[in-house]
Amino acid sequence: MRKPFVAGNWKMNGSRASIKTLVSGILNGMGRVNNVEVVVCPPFVYISEVAQLLEGSTVALGSQDVAKEESGAHTGKISVSMLTDVGCKYAIIGHSERRPYYLDRDEVVAEKFIAAQKGGVIPILCVGELLEEREAGQTEAVVEEQLQGVVARTGIKALENAVIAYEPVWAIGTGKTASPAQAQEVHAFIRNWVRKEDANIADKVRILYGGSVKAANAKELFSQTDIDGGLIGGASLAADEFINICAAAG
Ligand code: PGA
Repeated sequence: MRKPFVAGNWKMNGSRASIKTLVSGILNGMGRVNNVEVVVCPPFVYISEVAQLLEGSTVALGSQDVAKEESGAHTGKISVSMLTDVGCKYAIIGHSERRPYYLDRDEVVAEKFIAAQKGGVIPILCVGELLEEREAGQTEAVVEEQLQGVVARTGIKALENAVIAYEPVWAIGTGKTASPAQAQEVHAFIRNWVRKEDANIADKVRILYGGSVKAANAKELFSQTDIDGGLIGGASLAADEFINICAAAG
């Protein structure tokens, strides 16, 4: 049995004050969430503070990115050891808002993935196609290439200690959710792709859906066989909405 997993990706939103309110709302609502791993991914500068607010709770912390380098002269970057130092368990890697704009190509994504695991941080690896790629019938090829970009360098066993997030780029922040059937189709493709290499890992690896998930559509998405939870952007910024999504995964 895969434990459902819901992560909130706060992106570049919030202030010390708004984050305090958001976290207290989430903590208050956690009583309604059963048997779901809940993670929040604040902007780097707030991670420490959120860690303190979350102390003693079951809500875990993640970052939105991480450097592939261990330390040194890398102005502006945050290392894996810094993340573990402030209590991060997870790191989102290869988000589509980074791949094209910040040179997070497959090779860099793989290096970040490897650095994270080496330093004890669990990668949440994002994959997903653009609208034009979907329309050209290339969804599976694109997703496979992105997965292969990591697995070719790490071996399939690395997925034993990772989470995969399928996020069709055209559904992120657009209000256009993939239909549960569309999402399930790609999730099944991903799981079968893993299964060809290792059936045990295929059964265990959690595959999240991301892209305009809200409380109103979460239940139907999460009830699909191969959807094990969600990576939530916009809807993770309101405590009640986020808690309702988490509860729907349980
Ligand atoms: P969204 O973002 O829920 O706002 O569409 C999801 C994501 O980018 O992870």
